[in-house]
Amino acid sequence: PRILILGPPGAGKGTQSSNIAETYGVEHVTTGDALRGNKEMDISDMDTEYDTPGAYMDAGDLVPDKVVNAIVDEALSQADGFVLDGYPRNLEQAEELADMTDLDVILSLSVAREELVDRLTGRRVCDDCGTNYHVEFSPPAEDGVCDDCGGDLIQRDDDNEESVRNRLDVFDENTRPVIDHYEGDDAFVAVDGEQTPDEVWADIQDAIDARV
Ligand code: AP5
Ligand code: ZN
Repeated sequence: PRILILGPPGAGKGTQSSNIAETYGVEHVTTGDALRGNKEMDISDMDTEYDTPGAYMDAGDLVPDKVVNAIVDEALSQADGFVLDGYPRNLEQAEELADMTDLDVILSLSVAREELVDRLTGRRVCDDCGTNYHVEFSPPAEDGVCDDCGGDLIQRDDDNEESVRNRLDVFDENTRPVIDHYEGDDAFVAVDGEQTPDEVWADIQDAIDARV
């Protein structure tokens, strides 16, 4: 299946995309991870304001469309089925995506703003395998150590309170219109992201199974 997962920063897109990729055997295409792996890439020849993706990301601003569109186009052309996470983030990107592929399921996770601030400022990520933890909501067995692989748990550079609040403002301004745009689509499903991770996952499986 071709699945799109939408929602504000911290809604649980990464957490649930891992479940989807594992259970349905699809590729997890995530612009956030792809860009984090290329934060120092030289984009100065693309006529952008800053010379690297990292300069935008650490502040919580969007990386220019032409950089991101190229990443997604390449990744989707190589994937049979996919769960796309982190794209599109504005209406221009949504238009690009419509030219690249059709979608079978469009999931939209919703969570209130103050809950998102708590989730993101408390998030810790395994430096080796990428598994998500939260100091309060899903702590590891041993402080600072990944349960799955023993790797170090680190805090993302954009998970400080100032960048988090900017990411939420950028979402409201640029990405909410994308969700409104998809709302009338037959493939669209709204999911309550404020439930426990297991409850959210159960709703997502029901939504996918009903459509593919
Ligand atoms: P990206 O990496 O996409 O970050 P984001 O959208 O801010 O999303 P997050 O990864 O922060 O949150 P998530 O929804 O995946 O939540 P998670 O599952 O981790 O983008 C980063 C940056 O890259 C952007 O700011 C931008 O600069 C750039 N970028 C990326 N895509 C771009 C694009 N298309 N165009 C331009 N620029 C782009 O969960 C969060 C926390 O909550 C975790 O600690 C988790 O354990 C916990 N949690 C999860 N579910 C629950 C639950 N149900 N209950 C309680 N806690 C939970
Ligand atoms: Zn790990």
